[in-house]
Amino acid sequence: MGNSNSRSEIIYSHQPSVTLQEIFERYQGYKIFVATEATVDRLWLTAGNILPAGTTVSKVVIPSGEEHKQLTSVAQIWEFLSRGGADRKSLLVNIGGGMLTDLAGFAASTFKRGIRFVNVPTTLLSQVDASVGGKTGINFNGLKNEIGTFCEPEAVVIHTGFLKTIDRPNLLSGFAEMVKHGLIHRPKHLEELKHFPLENPDLLRLQEIIRHSVEIKQHFVLNDPTEKNIRKALNFGHTVGHALESLAMKQGRPVLHGYAVAWGMIAELFLSVQVCGFPSETAGELSAWLTSVYGRMKYDETDYPQLFELMGHDKKNEAGRINFTLLPAVGQFEINRACSETQLRNALDFLRQR
Ligand SMILES: NC(=O)c1ccc[n+]([C@@H]2O[C@H](COP(=O)([O-])OP(=O)(O)OC[C@H]3O[C@@H](n4cnc5c(N)ncnc54)[C@H](O)[C@@H]3O)[C@@H](O)[C@H]2O)c1
Ligand SMILES: [Zn+2]
Repeated sequence: MGNSNSRSEIIYSHQPSVTLQEIFERYQGYKIFVATEATVDRLWLTAGNILPAGTTVSKVVIPSGEEHKQLTSVAQIWEFLSRGGADRKSLLVNIGGGMLTDLAGFAASTFKRGIRFVNVPTTLLSQVDASVGGKTGINFNGLKNEIGTFCEPEAVVIHTGFLKTIDRPNLLSGFAEMVKHGLIHRPKHLEELKHFPLENPDLLRLQEIIRHSVEIKQHFVLNDPTEKNIRKALNFGHTVGHALESLAMKQGRPVLHGYAVAWGMIAELFLSVQVCGFPSETAGELSAWLTSVYGRMKYDETDYPQLFELMGHDKKNEAGRINFTLLPAVGQFEINRACSETQLRNALDFLRQR
């Protein structure tokens, strides 16, 4: 059974069909089901070289897009499992980006009080972040990830070949989470990312770099599976980032999560300079680099009240305080640091004028 205390096996694969064949053999005698989404199904599964040849597993295809990470899609997966005769020993293989792995992981973790599942993430964001760490969930009542469980997949199969068909914004979106991993834990990882040729990505090299990024995420997850303390380090860039993401959404010009996180990291680096002595020269260099990759988000002072309110609504806050994870230096972090409104204003000004 998957549970939040176990560590998932992470498999770096150059041939997903072979890896899946090996996994399927381990579950011989048990029913195996596949959940995917329309785009991935069209680009990768119907082409026929991902699912092992000769296997007849039944598949459910959810429409693509974040708006489908919701209850009716969960019901669709439950119904599919139920009609297919899934029992508590069955396995669900989730093939797709973070939308699908969050959704189908949630469906698996609740079906008959939880069946085992394997994630095969197909976007960079899901390879370095969403499919690892045991958080599953759906959006509900207009709130992101409002309903969910902590439940680790049995295994995660990482194959950068899937990224051949990914568009550049989605590649950059995942890359931002890797930068975050470097910033909070390992300067060496940050350096390899700075030198990675984003214009012409070498997918074999990327597979190695992803391994380092996933190791960092696993370090935090393993030491604090349910986010009571150090896992909060992974929220770096996300307090401001989520607020910017929601603002952009409300203003009808949505941005990808990783872009919002990149901008959030610039603001929170500047907060780190003010609150815990992060070297300002390094903050300047990092901000310039991130701006060169992610551009800027347009907003002005009239948006500040709304941004403050959005940060107040971040579910990671306790008792009305806006808490941040901040960095005293690259590779170090401090959780639960509160800031004054003036410091926050300064950080938003800084981000706007970069
Ligand atoms: N559970 C966690 O810890 C965690 C962490 C971070 C993010 N998330 C969640 O992950 C989701 C975002 O993940 P995402 O960015 O992967 O989004 P996504 O799954 O919606 O994928 C983004 C787009 O890429 C398409 N796509 C997927 N694989 C492709 C491929 N190989 N080639 C071409 N197109 C492909 C999808 O159809 C979609 O249009 C959000 O719902 C977020 O809440 C979860
Ligand atoms: Zn994130």
